[in-house]
Amino acid sequence: MSRAAVVSRFTLAQRIEHFVLIISFNVLAFTGLPQKYFYTGWAERIIQLLGGIERVRFIHRTFAVILIAEALWHIGAVIAARRAGRDRGDMGLNFGDVRGVLGDIAYLLGLRGSKPAFDRFDYRQKIEYWAVIWGTAIMATTGLIMWFPETLARFVPGVLVPASRVAHGGEALLAMLAVIIWHFYNAHFRPDIFPMDPAMWSGQMELERLRHDHAAEYDRLQKAGQLPPD
Ligand code: HEM
Repeated sequence: MSRAAVVSRFTLAQRIEHFVLIISFNVLAFTGLPQKYFYTGWAERIIQLLGGIERVRFIHRTFAVILIAEALWHIGAVIAARRAGRDRGDMGLNFGDVRGVLGDIAYLLGLRGSKPAFDRFDYRQKIEYWAVIWGTAIMATTGLIMWFPETLARFVPGVLVPASRVAHGGEALLAMLAVIIWHFYNAHFRPDIFPMDPAMWSGQMELERLRHDHAAEYDRLQKAGQLPPD
């Protein structure tokens, strides 16, 4: 059997999901930040450029609906995959991830010769995944409280409305910093990955990268006969 150069990593649906997330998150950040910093010159210019504050709020709410729909789609896709017995890769954090963190630190400090053998998703990817889930839940909950304050104040204490605004703006900053520092480093600027890991666009990963970055998955697939022997 000739050695396959690549393995399939993400389905078309998963790549579309990621693309929708990029667009919705960026538009929400671009239309949310000028509202948070409305008193600054740059915010005023962006609001004018987009056609005024009512237009900015309309765009923000439209893309919020898109992001919430995508989150619901994601939950549905995970449930459907489980029911059908399809393997999407384990995202649950476990003791193996703690060993992965410690092993990685030891490797980066030069205390061990090889990096830990990660499975399909390493601890960095899992933590980032849960940060997106957690962040989206907070943004959607606090955003909907701001969107429908009178309705929600009938069921929850009214103080949650201004509190939601503070939490929404703070989590927005945290999420943007996480993307710029954490995600961009891991998916774009890491020396062995620069300028980018193309897997989320092509859906495929080179075997050599799989063996290097996800050695446990590589071994598992090889033992299952899904990859040719070395
Ligand atoms: C997930 C669904 C989301 C919903 C339902 C939502 C909804 C809202 C609403 C209703 C407002 C108040 C302004 C208005 O009345 O139009 C708002 C403000 C804001 N949003 Fe969102 N949003 C969401 C996601 C996001 C995301 C992902 C970001 C940024 C990454 C973001 C950043 C902001 C910021 C910075 C403000 C201004 C907060 C302030 O005035 O201090 N939002 N959002």
